[in-house]
Amino acid sequence: MIKIQPLSRDQSVPMDLLLLADPSKEKVLAYVQSGSCFVAYHEQDIVGVYVLSSLSQRTVEIMNVAVKKSWQGIGVGKQLILHAISEAKTAGAHTIEIGTGNSSIHQLALYQKCGFRLSSIDHDFFLQHYDEPIFENGIQCIDMLRLSLVLQAD
Ligand code: COA
Repeated sequence: MIKIQPLSRDQSVPMDLLLLADPSKEKVLAYVQSGSCFVAYHEQDIVGVYVLSSLSQRTVEIMNVAVKKSWQGIGVGKQLILHAISEAKTAGAHTIEIGTGNSSIHQLALYQKCGFRLSSIDHDFFLQHYDEPIFENGIQCIDMLRLSLVLQAD
């Protein structure tokens, strides 16, 4: 039903989707430039996106994952995360990481269902790095929860 592939060079990034996951356009532009952008197509329409960046030779991070609102809740997000894991393995990464807010209940469920485990907490990350307060599920987004998945044994 959907096809996930690298964003072609002649296409602009789906900024509307990327901003669903990260309200800072400045930050999105920065990691889109240095990372690899993959998109989920349904026919000609882009219905999902993720960005994979290298943190080091051994570690990659999913910097952003987002699904078009009308396509949410039917498994596209999970397909994108599993695709990112597969890309990271192919690239020879040892670990894949992802960060999310303490208020992002749905995202925490999704990432753990894909095999990620909590690794650390970046306290006050969203207070320090975002100008406007962020609320989700009636909870203020203050701390970044870091999750990781080991892809290869040492
Ligand atoms: N409790 C338990 N499980 C939940 C849940 C909840 N509250 N909400 C969702 N899930 C589960 C689903 O049941 C599904 O699991 P399953 O495959 O075992 O049934 C899994 O999460 C994935 O759901 P899926 O339909 O693939 O998610 P999605 O296509 O809606 O995509 C997002 C998820 C987060 C990418 C999407 O909602 C989105 O774009 N949100 C806005 C942007 C965003 O917040 N990005 C992440 C920034 S950290």
